[in-house]
Amino acid sequence: MGLKQIKKICCIGAGYVGGPSMAVIANNCPEIEVNVVDINENRINQWNSKELSNLPVFEPGLKNIIKRCRNKNLYFSTDIVNNIKSADMIFISVNTPTKTKGIGAGQAIDLKWVESSAREVSKYASGETIVVEKSTLPVKTAAMIKKILINPSSKNNSKKFHVLSNPEFLAEGTAINDLQKPDRILIGGENSFAINALKKIYLHWVNEDKILETNLWSSELSKLAANAFLAQRISSINSISALCEETGADVNEVALAVGMDSRIGSKFLNAGPGFGGSCFKKDILNLVYLCNHYGLNQVATYWQQIIEINNWQKNRIVKIVVEKLFGSVADKKIGILGFSFKADTNDTRESPAIEICKELLEEGAILQIYDPKVEKEKIESELRAYSRKWNYANSVFDAAKSSDAIILLTEWQEFREIRWEEIHEIMRLPAWIFDTRNICNVNRMKALGFCLWSLGKQN
Ligand code: UDX
Ligand code: UDX
Repeated sequence: MGLKQIKKICCIGAGYVGGPSMAVIANNCPEIEVNVVDINENRINQWNSKELSNLPVFEPGLKNIIKRCRNKNLYFSTDIVNNIKSADMIFISVNTPTKTKGIGAGQAIDLKWVESSAREVSKYASGETIVVEKSTLPVKTAAMIKKILINPSSKNNSKKFHVLSNPEFLAEGTAINDLQKPDRILIGGENSFAINALKKIYLHWVNEDKILETNLWSSELSKLAANAFLAQRISSINSISALCEETGADVNEVALAVGMDSRIGSKFLNAGPGFGGSCFKKDILNLVYLCNHYGLNQVATYWQQIIEINNWQKNRIVKIVVEKLFGSVADKKIGILGFSFKADTNDTRESPAIEICKELLEEGAILQIYDPKVEKEKIESELRAYSRKWNYANSVFDAAKSSDAIILLTEWQEFREIRWEEIHEIMRLPAWIFDTRNICNVNRMKALGFCLWSLGKQN
């Protein structure tokens, strides 16, 4: 059995993962036609927008690739059926949110989109097709996909499927660089022809020694484990940040000293307002659910604690703000700088800013929210219940105007370049700055007359 050359790829799901990862494949493999399809027409229109600043995903470097490849060998469309029909390889990159209802609500992954995608593939694919799981999925999902695809009662023997797991490790904000220079490419599967076909695509730009082949279940679990380990580092340093504030240690100095141990490593040790993003919480909850399912209750409790510390970090920041502003923020203006969950992305999913803003609004504060890339509509949808008590600010200046305090929540470069002397003049005194990302220079801010609270430092 030999597999035909991969000439046409279809990716179901034109989101933060599907869009950039297919763009990078198209850019590196000019001989392959890449079709990204989505049920959301609006999203597809945005991907096809002439004005490149209207792309649905903001990622440094993405615009250039779209400019180069779109309508040459990279297409965005809602024609799911025909693109499945003609594809040699199909990536499933649909969203996999936490279930909100029924068995496993609040923990288990809702697989309904993956299931419906697999059913569409089963129905419309022709000939021999390789189906690749790109979305992060619970271990054993490939078994479900196989069951749907390889239906023994089907009379149509002309269809043949191979299922691979190929999780994506890109981080938002650095997606293009991560995709172009990955630490590793993980391919889980059973059929060596299918594995080699996918491997061949990556070999266009990735060295062979970075391509790791495993069984399906190791590949699925590795993605969950990697995200859990990363989130664990954030909760670890955030827990230490609170202890630093009490003891006079400085969390940056501690992180530097700890990270210089080559066994620990220096990356991913920045204390902050808590991790956000679409993956960490969802994937840890899924891990917890899986552990409980297999009766590993201690393991489940261990990982659950990473989420508890993350929630605690957000809550304690709000408590500190209220306490410093004389015990009440009611009717006080507070500038919020940064609403995305990290710098260099317009994504707000699970952003710590959401929880922090909600709690401050509950306390009666009037928020003036500014983010360089997040649109008003997105903030509106996250804070739907509180429309009257917050304003969308068009600049740092707008957010700071007449405010009693500014809370720095995202580490945007723009915030590192703020001319604080001008900001001080337009705030109400005493002017408080709550720096949750350690952006501000303590001595300079104090010299300018600010009251500064820095996360992880004795204040
Ligand atoms: C998602 C998952 O959240 C993540 O776990 C996984 O690793 C990759 O896929 P992301 O790309 O960030 O991440 O999600 P999102 O931006 O929501 O994109 C998913 C897209 O799939 C949406 O545009 C949605 O409209 C589309 N979709 C969903 C389909 O095209 N068909 C469906 O049946 C369901
Ligand atoms: C993460 C994983 O890094 C990536 O491999 C996976 O594919 C998807 O999930 P992402 O969520 O896009 O990527 O961003 P990441 O850079 O990991 O940041 C996650 C959160 O942790 C952000 O809220 C960020 O601000 C926070 N963080 C990160 C810190 O607070 N401190 C750090 O040192 C690093």
